[in-house]
Amino acid sequence: MAAGKKEPVVVSGLGALDKPASGLLTWVDARFPVMSNWRAHMTEYYAPKNFNFWYFFGSLAMLVLVIQIVTGIFLVMHYKPDADKAFQSVEYIMREVPWGWLIRYMHSTGASMFFIVVYLHMFRGLLYGSYRKPRELVWVFGVMIFLCLMGEAFFGYLLPWGQMSYWGAQVIVNLFGAIPVIGPDLSIWIRGDYVVSDATLNRFFSFHVIAIPLVLLGLVAAHILALHEVGSNNPDGVDINEHKDAKGIPLDGIPFHPYYTIGHDLFAAVVFLIVFSIIVFFAPEMGGYFLESNNFIAADSLKTPPHIAPVWYFTPYYSILRAMVWNFFWIDAKVWGVAGMGASTLIFFFLPWLDRSPVKSIRYRPSLHKYIYAVFVVCFFILGYLGTLPPSPTGQIVSQICMVLYFGFFLGMPWWSRMGQFKPVPDRVTM
Ligand code: HEM
Repeated sequence: MAAGKKEPVVVSGLGALDKPASGLLTWVDARFPVMSNWRAHMTEYYAPKNFNFWYFFGSLAMLVLVIQIVTGIFLVMHYKPDADKAFQSVEYIMREVPWGWLIRYMHSTGASMFFIVVYLHMFRGLLYGSYRKPRELVWVFGVMIFLCLMGEAFFGYLLPWGQMSYWGAQVIVNLFGAIPVIGPDLSIWIRGDYVVSDATLNRFFSFHVIAIPLVLLGLVAAHILALHEVGSNNPDGVDINEHKDAKGIPLDGIPFHPYYTIGHDLFAAVVFLIVFSIIVFFAPEMGGYFLESNNFIAADSLKTPPHIAPVWYFTPYYSILRAMVWNFFWIDAKVWGVAGMGASTLIFFFLPWLDRSPVKSIRYRPSLHKYIYAVFVVCFFILGYLGTLPPSPTGQIVSQICMVLYFGFFLGMPWWSRMGQFKPVPDRVTM
C-alpha cells in the first residue's frame, strides 16, 4: 500500500462487494446496521451442515408469503369489497384485466400451497423434535403464525362472494352462536348483521388485506429472530454449539449464506416454482380442492348449496367438529364440537412440554414412536378426507375413531414418548 493512502474498509459477506466497500454502503452502515445484521443472520449464521429435504420448507413458506402479498396487492387494485359488486369484480379480473387470471390463480393456488408447505414444515418439527428446548418459542411463534394463516384464509375465502364463500362463512360464524351465554350476540357482532352481508364482507376484507398480514409479518420476524438466537436444530437433533473451533465457530456448522441460500434453498425454490406453475397453468381448481365449483356461482342468500364443506386445509378440524355428537354433562353436542375443533388446533402449542422423549430426533427413537407418528398422520389424512364429504353414518364412526387417536397422540405423549428402546445419539452430526 502506497504511503499516505488510506486502508480500504472491508465488510465481509457480500461477494463482489466484499472488496473495498462502496462509499454508500459504508455511509449507510455507519447509520443503520445493514452489514452487521447481514453478517449475524446470513454469512456468520452457522447452520448445521446436515440439513436435508425437510429443511426446504421454512424458506419456501417465506417465498409463498411474498407471492401472496405481491399478487394480493395487484388483486386489490381491481377487486371491489361490496356485496353487489364483489363477484362481478372477480369475474372482471379473470376476463378483462390483462393477466388478471394469472394473478388470481397464483393467489388462489398460493393459498393451498401455503398450507401444504406449512404442514410439511410443522411435520419436520415433529420428526426432529425442533420444538424442544431451547426452541420452544420458535415453535410457539410458529403455531401463532399457523392460527393467523387459518384466519387469513377464512377471511379471504369470503371475498369472491361465491356460493361457497357465503355459506361457508355462514356456517362457521354460526358456530360461535353455540358458545353458552354470549354465543348468539357474539356471532351477530362478528358478522355485523343477522346474516352474512355487506357489513361482513367489508370487515373480512379489512382483516384479510391489512390486519392479519401485518400480524403475520411481525410473527414471521419474531419466529426467525427467536430461531437465530438459539440456532437451528438438525436431523440428528444434536447441538452443534457443543463442538467449536478456536475461533468459536461450530465445527459442524457452515455459513447460511452462500451455502444454504444458493446450494439448498434456491434449488428448492426452482423446484417449487415449477410445481406451482404446473398447477396454476394446468389445474388451478385441482379437481375442486383448491377452488370449488360452487364458488363460480354468485352468492345467493336464499339458496343453500346441498353440501357445504370448507377448503381441504380446514377439513381435518371440521371433521372433528362433526364427530362430536354427544351431549355430555347437559352441554349441547354443538358446543363440544366447537370446543373440539378449537382444541385440535390449539393443542399444537403444548407440544414442547408434552414430549418427554430423552432424544429429539426420530432417527434415534424406538420403532414404536415411528408407528405412532404414522398412525397420527394417517388419522389426519382420513379426517381431512372425511371433512370434504357429506356426513354419513360410517364416516361419523371412522372420524370419531380418528379423533380419539388424534387427541390420544398429544395427550398420551408424556407417556409414550418415554417408552421403548432408544438408540445412542452421536456426539456430532452425521452426513
Ligand atoms: C409463514 C409461515 C412460516 C414461515 C415463513 C417460517 C419460516 C421459517 C424459517 C425460514 C425457518 C428456518 C429454516 C428451516 O428450518 O426450515 C423456520 C424454522 C422453524 N419453524 Fe417456521 N415458518 C413458518 C411457520 C411455522 C409454523 C406454523 C411452525 C410450527 C407450528 C414453525 C416451526 C418452526 C420450527 C420449530 C423451526 C426450527 C426448525 C429447526 O431448527 O429444526 N414454523 N421457519
